[in-house]
Amino acid sequence: MSVDYSYIAAEAKSQIEAASDKAAIEGLRIKYLGRKGVLQDHMAKIPELAPEERRAYGSGLNDLKNNISAWLAEKEAALGVAAPPSAAGYVDVTLPGKKPVLGRLHPLTQVEGQICDIFCRLGFKVFKGPEVETEHNNFVALNIPLEHPSRDAFDTFYIKKCQVSGVRCQEKAHDIGNMTQETLLLRSHTSPAQIRAMKAAEPPMAVIMPGRVYRPDAVDASHSFMFHQVEGIAVDAQIRFSDLKGVLIAFAREMFGKDTKLRFRPSFFPFTEPSAEVDISCFLCKAKGCPACKKSGWIEILGCGMMHPHVLRSGGYDTKKWRGFAFGMGVERIAMLKFGVNDIRLFFENDMRFLEQF
Ligand code: DAH
Repeated sequence: MSVDYSYIAAEAKSQIEAASDKAAIEGLRIKYLGRKGVLQDHMAKIPELAPEERRAYGSGLNDLKNNISAWLAEKEAALGVAAPPSAAGYVDVTLPGKKPVLGRLHPLTQVEGQICDIFCRLGFKVFKGPEVETEHNNFVALNIPLEHPSRDAFDTFYIKKCQVSGVRCQEKAHDIGNMTQETLLLRSHTSPAQIRAMKAAEPPMAVIMPGRVYRPDAVDASHSFMFHQVEGIAVDAQIRFSDLKGVLIAFAREMFGKDTKLRFRPSFFPFTEPSAEVDISCFLCKAKGCPACKKSGWIEILGCGMMHPHVLRSGGYDTKKWRGFAFGMGVERIAMLKFGVNDIRLFFENDMRFLEQF
C-alpha cells in the first residue's frame, strides 16, 4: 500500500495559514495533533497493516506530525502569541538574582578560634592531640592517682581494645594501632595532649591544645557527654607563676574586654603545684552582680598552675633544667557567657534558627 499524506499536509497548512488568533491555532492543534485528532486516527490503523508496510507508514505520519507542529509554532510566533520560551536557553536578565546561602563558622569554632588566636599572638603554637587516648596519657602521666574519681568507669568512656586495633587517628596521624597494648579511652580532658606536645617539641616551648573531650555525664542545660577545652603549657628555664599570671591577664583582656580583672584562688589539680582557679570580673554586669555571676561579680573560667615535676618527666623533660605553667578552660562555658546562651544543648542540635544568630 503506498502512503500519501500530501492531501492532509496541504489541508493542514492552508488552515494554519488562515488562522487569525490563538484560539484558532489551538483548535487546529487539537484537530490534527490531539488525542482524537486526524493523525491519531491514522496511527490507530498501523496494527492492521502488513508488518513490512508499518515502518514506511509510521515514519510518514511522524514527519507529518513534525511539520504540522512546526507550522503551528511558526504561525503562533507570527501572531505574537507564542508561549514564553522554555527555561532551556533562555535567561531573563531582568529578574532579581538569587542570594546564595552563605555558610559560617559554628559559634564554638568561632570562640575556639578566638582563644587560639590570642595565644598565638602571645607566641604559642597550636598542637592537637587525639580524642582516643591511652589511660597512661590521660591519667598516669598527669599524676592522677588510681583512686581519683575521674578514673572511675562512671566518669570516663573506656574503650575495649579490640574495637580500635589498627585504627589511625586522622588528626596528625597519631598511630593508635601502636597503642593497643594499653587501655584506651575517650580523653576526659585535653591535658594528655601536654604529654604528646612535650614529646614532639624541644623546650623552651609554648603550645595551645584545643579539642573535644568526653565524659559520660547525663545531658542537661549545663552538661554534655562531649564538649571542648583549650589547654595550654609553656616550658622554659626560669618560667614563674608571675609569667602565668601575665599571660592569663593578657588573654582575658583580649577576650573579655580591657577592663577585665582576674582573681586567682588557691586550688588543687594533680598535674600542677601550686594550682589555682581563675575568675574574671563579670563583663556582663561590670562586676555589679547579675545572674551570670550569681550576684558575686566574678565568673570562674579556668584552672591553672605550675606544671608538676611528674608531668614534665612524663614528657621527657629534665626537671633540673625546665619548669612550666599549664592552664585549661572550657570552650562552651566561655561561648555561653559571651553569647548569653543558657543551654549547652543548643550548640549541638544543628538548629539553623539558633546557629544563624552567630
Ligand atoms: N584538666 C582540667 C579539667 O578538665 C582542667 C585544667 C586545670 C587543665 C588546671 C590544666 C590545669 O592544665 O593546669 O578539669
